[in-house]
Amino acid sequence: MRIILLGAPGSGKGTQGDLISGKYGFPKISSGDLLRQAVADGTPLGRAAEAKMKRGELVSDDVVIGMIKDRIKKEDCQKGYILDGFPRTISQALSLERMSPDGAEIVFDIHLDDQVVFDRISARRICSGCNHIFNLQLKAIGQREICENCGGTLIQRADDKPEVIKDRLKNYHEQRETLVVFYKEKNVYLCVEGDADRAKIFENICIFLDNKIAQAQRTTGTDDCL
Ligand code: AP5
Ligand code: MG
Repeated sequence: MRIILLGAPGSGKGTQGDLISGKYGFPKISSGDLLRQAVADGTPLGRAAEAKMKRGELVSDDVVIGMIKDRIKKEDCQKGYILDGFPRTISQALSLERMSPDGAEIVFDIHLDDQVVFDRISARRICSGCNHIFNLQLKAIGQREICENCGGTLIQRADDKPEVIKDRLKNYHEQRETLVVFYKEKNVYLCVEGDADRAKIFENICIFLDNKIAQAQRTTGTDDCL
């Protein structure tokens, strides 16, 4: 089972990806997290990506495609995986088909207005220890900016500045339509309203996902997910 999360910056891909992973056990693969880790580690890949990420531009297709190809070969992805932030271009989507052409697939496109995106991203903090995603608006006032899961310090992402958010949104809107058409033609596309409570969004996703998993199990005659 391949689950793809599309959506604008700040639309909730990471948040829903974590919830799906927690319930269904598939690993969440965030291209942004992998790139940020490579930047922090100072790897050649990280050095190639850093300047573009700071400007809110897309990292080149070949760099990102190679990174995802290596990741989905790993043992924990054999039964399924969740892609958060990949593919972002039609070239990435076509490469993904070639990497793994068979098996069940479902694409959730989380829809959110640009103004709500701005508000959410401005209030976002990430745990520097476990990458858990927080929103300061949802934390009690006066609470210290410490991760409640691992005790790590909460930090703001370098690309979460208003001027960079604008460029990230521009790049997103330039690529979106082609990807949506591609997945609609494959008949795997579902649009999810993102301006709702996160638990409600997750509930809606689970309804579709449960159906898709049951359908995949009927097709293969096994209890395993593809
Ligand atoms: P990436 O890390 O993927 O960033 P993004 O797509 O811009 O998305 P975000 O991570 O900002 O948002 P999200 O949708 O995950 O939202 P979240 O759940 O955190 O990419 C970063 C950069 O890396 C790119 O700009 C590019 O340079 C490069 N890159 C990555 N992938 C690439 C690729 N494939 N090709 C080329 N370059 C690539 O939620 C946001 C906030 O809202 C949080 O605070 C959260 O707590 C809160 N929230 C979530 N849901 C709700 C809700 N329902 N109600 C209220 N608040 C909510
Ligand atoms: Mg994210």
